[in-house]
This record gives sequence, C-alpha cells and structure tokens, in this order.
Amino acid sequence: MSGAAAPPVQVTHGLGRYPVYVEAGVLARLGALAAEHLGGRRLAMIADATVHQLYRGGRLGAVTWEGEALTFPPGEASKTRDQWARLTDELLRRGFGRDSGIIALGGGVAGDLAGFVAATYMRGVPYLQTPTTLLAMLDASVGGKTGVDTPEGKNLIGAFHPPVAVIADPATLATLPEREFRGGLAEAVKHGLIADADYFGWIERESERLLRREPAALVRLVRRSVEIKAEVVSADEREGGRRAILNAGHTVAHALERASSYRVPHGEAVGLGLLAEAALAEDLGLAPSGLGARVSAVLSRLGLPVRLVPALAPDALLPAMASDKKNRAGTIRFALPSAIGAMATREGWTVAAAEPAVRKAIDSIL
Ligand SMILES: NC(=O)c1ccc[n+]([C@@H]2O[C@H](COP(=O)([O-])OP(=O)(O)OC[C@H]3O[C@@H](n4cnc5c(N)ncnc54)[C@H](O)[C@@H]3O)[C@@H](O)[C@H]2O)c1
Ligand SMILES: [Zn+2]
Repeated sequence: MSGAAAPPVQVTHGLGRYPVYVEAGVLARLGALAAEHLGGRRLAMIADATVHQLYRGGRLGAVTWEGEALTFPPGEASKTRDQWARLTDELLRRGFGRDSGIIALGGGVAGDLAGFVAATYMRGVPYLQTPTTLLAMLDASVGGKTGVDTPEGKNLIGAFHPPVAVIADPATLATLPEREFRGGLAEAVKHGLIADADYFGWIERESERLLRREPAALVRLVRRSVEIKAEVVSADEREGGRRAILNAGHTVAHALERASSYRVPHGEAVGLGLLAEAALAEDLGLAPSGLGARVSAVLSRLGLPVRLVPALAPDALLPAMASDKKNRAGTIRFALPSAIGAMATREGWTVAAAEPAVRKAIDSIL
C-alpha cells in the first residue's frame, strides 16, 4: 500500500463511537495513540503471555511499549473469574486508581478478559484494544462485549464496555500459527455471505494473497469485515434483531465445538457451520441450489475443512444445538442465507427448522 493511510473505521454505539485503526505498522504509534485516547491516565497493558513475549522480543510487528504490563497464560482457559480476580487484585496492589486506562494486547481472550477488567475496575475505566489475531481483529474487537467463561458455559458473565479505540495492525499476524490464521478467514467468509456479495467474490479471487498474508490484502480484509460488523452492531447493539445475522454458521459451529469438547477450533467450526446452514437454507427453499457449493469452494481455497474429521454422530450434535440461545419454544433457530450477501427474512432474522431437515444439513458435513 502506498500513500496516506485510510481514515479509521468508526463504530457507533449507544454512548458514542470509537475509531478502529487498520493499518500495517500502526502499532509503532501505540504510545502516541494511547496518549491521544487515554491521555493523562496511568496505563496498564494486559497481555497474553505468548504475545507479550513476542513483543518484548521485538517480533510482534513494530509494537513498542515501555509502560507497565500484566500478563496471563495464553488460551481460553484463562478467560475466568479467577484470572479476572488476579488481574484486578494486581492492579489494586500496584495502586492503580480511577484515573487508570487499560491496553488489551492479544487475541479475543485478551480482549474479553482485559475488557472485563476495564469494565469493572473502579466501576469502569477506559481501554484500548490492540488485537493480534485475525479473529480478534475482524470480529472480537468490535461490538463492545467483554466477559469471562464459567463451568456452565462460555461468556456467561460479562458486560458491554466499548473500547475507546481499536488498533488493528495486520503486521502482527506474521507470527500467528497457520491454523489460527485460517480460522479467522472463516469469519471473513461469514461477513461476505451475510452482507456483501462483492466482498465474498473478492475473498474468492484473492485467496492466495490472503493465505500469503500480504499486508495490503489483510488491511482490506480486516477493514471490510470491521465495517460490516460495525454496521450491523451499530444498528442493533444488544441483539434484538438484525444482529442475529452475525450468528450465521454459529448455531452449528457451537454444537460442533461443544460436542467435540472444543477439539474443533472455532474458525473451522464456523466454516463447517456456514456450509451445513447453507445446505439447510437450500433444503428449506430459502436459497437457490448451488449456494452451498460456492461456500464450500471458497473454504477449500482458504485451506479450511469442508468435512468434519473425525466425524461426530448427529445424535451428539442435535442436543448440543437444542440449548442454543436463539431457540424459542423448542425448535432450533438459524440465521440463514438467501443468497451470497443476503440473509433470509421470512420469519424475522432467524428461521425455525425441524429436526429431520437439521439432520440432513449436518449429514452434508460428516
Ligand atoms: N467479544 C466478542 O464479541 C467476541 C467475538 C468473537 C470471539 N470472542 C472470543 O475470542 C476468543 C477467541 O479469540 P482468539 O481466537 O483470538 O484466541 P486467543 O486470544 O486465545 O488467541 C489464540 C492463540 O494465538 C496466540 N496469539 C495471539 N496473537 C498472536 C500473534 N500475533 N502471533 C502468535 N501467536 C499469537 C495466543 O497466545 C493464543 O495462544 C474466544 O474466547 C471468544 O469467545 C469474543
Ligand atoms: Zn465466531
């Protein structure tokens, strides 16, 4: 990319709005951006230990940060009330007051955990998101949801607490493990499928540049995905209606994750979920035939699985789906596509499906 960087994407929410900077190399300006958005505050970075080590070793893009930092062990297992308590105790011990600001550095786990610390510390202090996984850049850092998991389920304790700014630097993705990277691409496919046929087509055409992690292609990918998610959540912050389309692929994906005890990574589960749900949409007559084949082809180009290996029994998946949050009155509900770039609206933003049709759709990915 040459010339001046494009202006940040603006995300609006109930209390205001915040910018999402998407530029290769932007994290070299972390200090200046922190001063701009958290000026006059005493800052604590909260980072996952792997990412913290990468940036301390000069291997996380051009991130520079000399201020105080707290770390937690990487991975979903850290998104707990225990880690929240440990981090908030540590901030208290170090004497952080109401005038603090938090910088969340890492993937979606860092964003959700550090965001929840920020939401609750001294009844709420402002925070910056600096996502370093593709999933966190194009999905988790937009929308203002923070929180932790409990033994009862994921994300059950949390708060809406939008960041003051998001700084997404695709240069940090150079060190991301391949499987994590490809998983993030599945969410981008979802964004194209639910809202933008041109974007979907661009992903199809640029799959090789994306897989090579070319900075210009990644900037464009993250920007367009952030714009789509921002547009959907700005219009429907608390999930009353259209925000449900962001759950495309996720009814099946969450069931795949739960039934496999989370051995299927989220992004791969989303890809398979999009595929099964496209098959369901075709079967219910909501989408033209051929939609699923096109989704399958783009996932394959991006190196994402189109069959669940090792397979799980449909009997293990259906109960996992029956507990989905979108369900009403005993039927399973799905956010289904009607075409590439458009969602079915026959019964509102989600559609009820009977068990035989759901079984058939699941069979298509087994
Ligand atoms: N708040 C939301 O709206 C929202 C939306 C989607 C997902 N999420 C949450 O996001 C979480 C998943 O996020 P994730 O997939 O980013 O997982 P993650 O934060 O656990 O990161 C995945 C792994 O990548 C490593 N890593 C991160 N950046 C790296 C880099 N640049 N180089 C090398 N390694 C790096 C991490 O150490 C970790 O091991 C889940 O908890 C999910 O619930 C939240
Ligand atoms: Zn997802």
